[in-house]
Amino acid sequence: FDAHPLHRPLYGRHVLVTAGPTHEPIDPVRYIANRSSGKQGFAIAEAAAVAGARVTLVAGPVHLPTPPGVDRIDVETAREMEEAVNQTLPVDVAVMVAAVADWHVTRQAGQKIKKEGGGIAPLELAENPDILAGLGASVQKPRLLIGFAAETHDVVHYAQGKRQRKGADWIIANDVSGDVMGGNHNTVHVVTADGVEDWERMDKERVATRLVERISNALSH
Ligand code: CTP
Ligand code: CA
Repeated sequence: FDAHPLHRPLYGRHVLVTAGPTHEPIDPVRYIANRSSGKQGFAIAEAAAVAGARVTLVAGPVHLPTPPGVDRIDVETAREMEEAVNQTLPVDVAVMVAAVADWHVTRQAGQKIKKEGGGIAPLELAENPDILAGLGASVQKPRLLIGFAAETHDVVHYAQGKRQRKGADWIIANDVSGDVMGGNHNTVHVVTADGVEDWERMDKERVATRLVERISNALSH
């Protein structure tokens, strides 16, 4: 590999990435989830590793290969993701790309719920922990804390609110009004304390390498 610091700008840094959905079980065969392919988060983990970082990737249920040189922790639920994140701290940078389910079912059935006999009772839901906001309020808050926000409308407006509410340094606002979900391209806006950068539509690998460049620059200043 290339040890030159210009080519390994994240050498010596520990980067945490969350990716994919979480699955919140209803019974042994059914779950609640957000749509997420995991592609963008995995691409960021890979780009950070190429840039020389030690990378821990906390992945929800996705069918994607582990990028070379990345330590992967597989989880299913938001509460498992939170635990894996907390066990990985401290880190220099956290990039929270996961589409965490907002709720879990309070009383998970131990056996498959059958349709006959009236079907399913109304599901009681409870809110999941906000992992990003937890890091934002933590004494172990990473030097650079980055969230993602998939929005279908008022993309930048909502992202600015989330940046402040969750204590994140940057929010990468992701316009999912088109065909992004599961696709290979992304249109993002980088929302920071200094304002908003609109990036042109590009493939997810390019979003990842540009974001890693942006992270490397921020850490070197
Ligand atoms: N996030 C998280 N834990 C949660 C929910 C969200 O860590 N329980 C993180 C996501 O990984 C992402 C950011 O918060 O980096 C924004 O997620 P989003 O779902 O857009 O935010 P919410 O506050 O859940 O708002 P919404 O009502 O739009 O879903
Ligand atoms: Ca949400």
